[in-house]
Amino acid sequence: MKAITGILIFLSCLTSVTAQRICGSDNYTAALLKSNPALQAAYQDAENQIKKTTAKSNLRFRDTAQNELINIPVVIHVIYKTAVQNISDAQIQSQLISLNNDFAGINADRANTPKVFRPLAADVRIKFCIAQVDPRGNKTTGIIRKYSNTEVFFADDAMKFNNRGGDDAWDSKRYLNIWVCALGGRSLGYAAIPGGPSDVDGVVIAYDAFGTTGTLRPLFNKGRTATHETGHWMGLKHVWGDTDCGDDGVDDTPRQKSYNYGCPSFPHITSCSVDERGDMFMNYMDFSDDACMNMFTYGQKNRMRALFAKGNLRNSFLVSFACDSNLAQGGALPDTAAKVVAPALVKIYPNPAESAITIQCKTASKLALQPLQIFTVTGTKVYAATLSSEETRFAISFLTPGLYIVKVGEGKDATTSKLIKK
Ligand code: ARG
Ligand code: ZN
Ligand code: CA
Repeated sequence: MKAITGILIFLSCLTSVTAQRICGSDNYTAALLKSNPALQAAYQDAENQIKKTTAKSNLRFRDTAQNELINIPVVIHVIYKTAVQNISDAQIQSQLISLNNDFAGINADRANTPKVFRPLAADVRIKFCIAQVDPRGNKTTGIIRKYSNTEVFFADDAMKFNNRGGDDAWDSKRYLNIWVCALGGRSLGYAAIPGGPSDVDGVVIAYDAFGTTGTLRPLFNKGRTATHETGHWMGLKHVWGDTDCGDDGVDDTPRQKSYNYGCPSFPHITSCSVDERGDMFMNYMDFSDDACMNMFTYGQKNRMRALFAKGNLRNSFLVSFACDSNLAQGGALPDTAAKVVAPALVKIYPNPAESAITIQCKTASKLALQPLQIFTVTGTKVYAATLSSEETRFAISFLTPGLYIVKVGEGKDATTSKLIKK
């Protein structure tokens, strides 16, 4: 009898573990909304931006001109009490690599995507770099390590504030803030979704689910928690739409009954599957183990990129220049330029250029900053910075080969030149 009761208790614990498996992000958003109901409107605005932009764009199933690489500077706040929580630079690098591979669709395990879903797997054309320039314009490693008295954090944002045992966010209009710390409860990480307050914007990842090397939980050692949470940060919802057979706002992820965990075998058909393909449990926005997730779809790509379109919430990242260490010269960031004077002479060399250009601008100095902008021929801004000396060298390897327009100065005083990227 005793043994049977024991087994029953054991079984009910098991089911409650699986039943309670909810993404930290959902709890977090719900709690934030409860304390600030006005946020609902802001979240709705973000959703409307995404809907409006995705309806107009046609890159749902194939790549088009709206496919320029988007660079996201990342600042990593490592908050630790114990030595093991103070993860190594190598562990941080490993996360950046896997994050970039996942977003580019060049993850080593992409061959595991079932054939029927393979045509839907996208290269999102979003690249993350560890910030090279800090908010004051100085060179940085992009990694902040901070000792804290807090041994374990929860999804209440304490890690995001100096005065709560954490570290303040960097300007979330220019940087993706990633806080890495010990996380209690069941969550591996959580994300702030678009439209939320700017001082808590970013993602939080448990130190032992971050990257692919170091002390990691066995099932969460491929960096997919950061991939998943960054997906939320860019407006993605869970593939099952967070309700029974719900809608994630993405056409090419099939309807699915609920979340998957562990590593289901393909196909996983449920009562609301629309066809024999069943659930897309290998999507980064499901709850499967790291080793069993391997794709974002074109529809998800479309949603994520929509946020960066003109006028939309994360558009400011297109002019964030913090990926380029050549621009660490101290002083003002773009858009806050102190004083602009007419550029007398602008020279660009080499041109055509492959990896870097030098821009000569006689009137650029610390006192007379000159805004620099690079546009595609169709007018999309792909780069912005401030010239603060007569000669500035820039890496341009992030540009796809082609013709660009380089604009120095503002208004009628601006000088434009053509640049050919090889
Ligand atoms: N916030 C989700 C959780 O805590 C993240 C799930 C990520 N999944 C993964 N295989 N890493 O459950
Ligand atoms: Zn989630
Ligand atoms: Ca869907």
